[in-house]
Amino acid sequence: MTAILVGESVSKHYGGLKAVDDVDFHLDDGEILGLIGPNGAGKTTLFSVAAGSTPPTHGRVLLDGKEVSGKSAHRSVHLGICRTHQIVRPFARLTVAENVLVGHHYGRPPNVGGRDALAVTMEILDFIGLADADRIIVLDHGRKIAEGTPAEVGNDPRVIEAYLGRDDEGQPVEPEEGQRA
Ligand SMILES: Nc1ncnc2c1ncn2[C@@H]1O[C@H](COP(=O)(O)OP(=O)(O)O)[C@@H](O)[C@H]1O
Ligand SMILES: [Mg+2]
Repeated sequence: MTAILVGESVSKHYGGLKAVDDVDFHLDDGEILGLIGPNGAGKTTLFSVAAGSTPPTHGRVLLDGKEVSGKSAHRSVHLGICRTHQIVRPFARLTVAENVLVGHHYGRPPNVGGRDALAVTMEILDFIGLADADRIIVLDHGRKIAEGTPAEVGNDPRVIEAYLGRDDEGQPVEPEEGQRA
């Protein structure tokens, strides 16, 4: 596999706050790579650094071997990378497929649906490449704490702790039904 996007020791510090702290990552050609983590983990900052809109404090991001970090968004876009912003408002309690299904049903008579609607939903997800989201990196407090398939990271005790914390006895909180990947 050829890595098309590579992050080398990417750090972004705001004064004493390490928003992103020494993160290495790679994205292979044709792969979908997720980046997750609790609020304030550093996801948006890492995206901004990769897309050129925020210069890193240390490290760099390379697209096809060319540095795209530390420039500016309007320069980086011509090198082949840009980011979108977090303006969509999906239904948090529904799955990705269910969110698409809602969109498919919207404005249609209530009896339209069933297996056909689900098939259309899966076609849409397949088309945009979300039917089978591949590998995930998990950030917490700016540091990479886990990397793997959704099932692997969803069952990783460090990831569960980052999201749910510890109970009164200092044990990682047990996820409830539907909270695991
Ligand atoms: N421009 C900024 N100035 C100072 N602190 C910032 C700035 N942007 C982000 N931070 C801080 O960096 C940390 C990571 O933020 P962010 O990347 O937005 O996290 P996430 O997207 O994972 O929620 C947070 O503690 C946030 O308050
Ligand atoms: Mg964010």
